[in-house]
Formats: sequence, C-alpha cells, structure tokens
Amino acid sequence: MYDGDLNFIFRNPTKILFGKGSAGEVLEEVNALKGKKVLLVTDKFLEKSEMVEKVKKALSGKFAGMFSDIEPDTGTHIVDRGADYARSIGADCIVTVGGGSSIDTAKGIAVVLALGGRIGDHSGVNFLTGPITPHVVIPTTAGTGSEVTYAAVIKDHEKHRKLIYADNYIIPNVGILDPTMTVSMPPRVTAGTGMDAMSHCIEALHSQQANPITDGLALQGIRLIVGHLPKAVDNGKDLLARGQMQIAANVAGVAFGNAQVGVVHALAHSVGGRFGVPHGIANSILLPYCMEYNLDVVADKYRLAAQAMGVDVKGLSDEDAAHKAAEALWSFTGRIGMPQKLREVGVREEGLRQVAEDAISDGSIVYNSKPIFDPEETLKILKRAF
Ligand SMILES: [Fe+2]
Repeated sequence: MYDGDLNFIFRNPTKILFGKGSAGEVLEEVNALKGKKVLLVTDKFLEKSEMVEKVKKALSGKFAGMFSDIEPDTGTHIVDRGADYARSIGADCIVTVGGGSSIDTAKGIAVVLALGGRIGDHSGVNFLTGPITPHVVIPTTAGTGSEVTYAAVIKDHEKHRKLIYADNYIIPNVGILDPTMTVSMPPRVTAGTGMDAMSHCIEALHSQQANPITDGLALQGIRLIVGHLPKAVDNGKDLLARGQMQIAANVAGVAFGNAQVGVVHALAHSVGGRFGVPHGIANSILLPYCMEYNLDVVADKYRLAAQAMGVDVKGLSDEDAAHKAAEALWSFTGRIGMPQKLREVGVREEGLRQVAEDAISDGSIVYNSKPIFDPEETLKILKRAF
C-alpha cells in the first residue's frame, strides 16, 4: 500500500461549524473575515425560502444584495454576470446558501471580484495570482464537499466543456454545516449528491496521491454514507441522518481535496458536459465500473472500502474482496433508487467515443491509480456502464 518513500502534503484550512441552527452564526464569521458588504449567493428555488431568509436576517446590516441567477451546471456567463453584480453593490465578502452549482458559481465570482477580468481568463490549475474574496459556505446539499475544496467546475456552454478551476486560494474560509439546511432536498437529489460523496471517498482511496490521512477520512466517509444515506433518502426530515451525511460529504471533500479524484470524475465530467447527466448520478453509475477497471492495481484499498461498507471479506484475497466492494455498491445504489446504466439517463451510444476522448483530457484522470492515456480504455469502461 505505502512504502518507506511515502511523502505528502495535507491541507485543511477551512473552519467548520456543525450543528442544528449553526447557520444563525453567519454574522460572527463574516465579522471575523472583516467583511462589510455581503453578497448572498443562492439559487432560484431557495431565494425566497425560510433558510435564505434566516441567513439574510442573521447578516442584518451587512447584507448588500443577492445573486440567485444560478443554473444546475453553472456556466462562465453566469459567473461573469454574478461578478458584475457583486462589483455594482461593492461586495467584499460572499456567503453562499446552496448546493454544488451555487458554491462553484460563488467561488468563480470570488475569483473575478478579487482578481479582475472574466472567469474564462482564470481557468486551469494553480493559475490564480493571489487571494480571492472571503467566502462563507452554508451547503444545502450533502455531497460535493465544496465548502472545503480547492476546485470549481464551471461549464463553457459554447464549447460544451466543463472548465476546471483548481487552486488553494479557492478553498472557502468557513463552512457552516447546519442539518436543518438540507431537509428540503428531494430523495433523488439526496441520493445523487450522497453518491457524489461516496465517489469522492473511493476516488480519494484509489488516487495516486492518496496518503494515510486521506485514507482514514475516506473510510470514515464511506461508513457514514452506508449508515445514513438510505435513512436520509427515506425520510428527509431525519436530522441525525442529514447531519451525518453533511459530515460524510465534508470528510470526503477534505479527503479528495488532498488526494484528488480519478477516472470516475473524469468520465462523469465528460458525460455531464456532453449529455447533461447530473454529476452525482453520473458518478453513481460509473463508480463500480471504474472500480472493476482499477481493481488489479488497488485491490488492497478496495478491500478497506468493502470493510467500511460492512462487507465480510474474511478469508478472501484482496482481489475477491475488491469485487465484493463493487458489488456492494451496485446493491447500495439500487437500494437508494439510483439508475444503474448510462442508457437510463439520456446518454446515447453514438456519443460514447466523444465522451471517452473528452475524459482523457480531463484533469482528474492524471491522478487515477491506473494511468490512462488511450481513449480506447475509457471507452471500454463507458461501454460496460452503458
Ligand atoms: Fe464530485
């Protein structure tokens, strides 16, 4: 698994507040960041909700304006519009109430607001020239872990590609995990975002950049997801399950924020870019197939995943235990009502080759445990998952 040459850097700079009602403490966090005028970023569904009202009220005189023009897969045009608005109200701090798309939009706005230009000028890995606008995140889903990660995915709708923004400056300053903020998530979104977190855990485990700290976080994430995601899907008002899923998504975010993701995300980004499949659902379908693909090089890690899922692997070889982990995931995604094949979610067979080629140039693939350079390899996985 690891040898005496192991060396790594581990980073986890985000302050986390957890607990029922913790969203009401947002003003203290804004004050600590020396924010004077807050831009509240949220989406159209939440804009008039009790949750957003609560945060607005808590911000009191520091609330300067709201940007809610968010779409499910955020785009460069949306970020630029948000940044123009933020500038027009003189915002110097951002508070986001929302899911992955709102958080990624806000990360983009924070970049443009501090560094100027348009968001398209800043894409890439470690391209930012300095700190960005302070950012407090209050997630309303439990999956992306975006409150602790250094990345944002923003779609260039003209080119049908997802652009990756990856830089330590993007990591939000504060994440407020208030379980009451996630109760309105419908079952399918709960399941999809929860499986995004599960794929973060598995991808952190099988990454070339994994280390013993990220392994520990990832395995704890898997345990929490297996124990609590079905309950959160069955009863959205189960605050214990909701809170444990927020913690799962958070530890998964810290794990993959340090270890990176791999072929599952490379394919999910590409399938999302070409066919609009929601990120969590794409990951959920692709994850076990990608595990089967990686299995010969990381069976020992998948054995740990199987154990964390509660599978009895005693007496089995690492390889057999790893197959059991993939099988356990298929039955788990079935239990929570997730689709199992790409054909069920609008992907067309004739588009698979293009998706396979897109995935090869996706930044996530370079960290996959098994190096992949040939689109025939990604096509093999896609055909099995189709
Ligand atoms: Fe993800």
